[in-house]
Amino acid sequence: MEPWIAPSILAADFSRLGEEIRSVLAAGADLIHFDVMDNHYVPNLTIGPLVLESLRKAGIGCAMDVHLMVKPVDRLVGDFLDAGADFISVHPEATEHLHRTLGLIKEGGAKAGIVFNPATPLAVLPEVIDMVDLVLVMSVNPGFGGQAFIGSSIEKLKAARKIIDASGREVRLEIDGGIKASNIGSVASAGADTFVAGSAIFGSEDYSATISAMRAAIG
Ligand code: DX5
Ligand code: ZN
Repeated sequence: MEPWIAPSILAADFSRLGEEIRSVLAAGADLIHFDVMDNHYVPNLTIGPLVLESLRKAGIGCAMDVHLMVKPVDRLVGDFLDAGADFISVHPEATEHLHRTLGLIKEGGAKAGIVFNPATPLAVLPEVIDMVDLVLVMSVNPGFGGQAFIGSSIEKLKAARKIIDASGREVRLEIDGGIKASNIGSVASAGADTFVAGSAIFGSEDYSATISAMRAAIG
């Protein structure tokens, strides 16, 4: 699968959010990673469906990769579908009935993703592999940008890659947390094809140069 780079707007300048998104898209980003935090499932608070809706109204038509770090999940799925999400990803710990939640996303016409924290085993993945379009491996504990990459996620990526390949389905394998040009090659070798990067892109002087360096390192 063609590699995709997904800047996380968590590290963008929120006072100029639309402009920041247009800048990373012009710099070569493939989709935008939209982190939703609720100060309950994770100890931080970010943005909700109203923000996505206003970006859509402002003419931002790119693919939006919504990462829900909220509990409970189901009630917000409909709001994000209406707001224009393309991918909606959920953590199995955050919903009582994962199969139902993934079903709600699919029935609403979006692509469904499942997210694994560093300490969460992939155990449920084979049970729902037929329903998911994206598997997201967290290489930090969710809640904050700018944290250090957790090395054990390399083995988890390899294991997830095997499950995806055995399914024969087109499922993206995404990595999120501490990704930069210096380690993106190793996560690509472990099987990732979709790369979230917040601080490495929005914290850099030249978005285009950073995204190009990442692409070169993916190879
Ligand atoms: C963390 C979020 C990430 C975050 C990544 O909970 O899910 O998407 O923005 O930030 P960096 O790339 O700075 O680690
Ligand atoms: Zn994220």
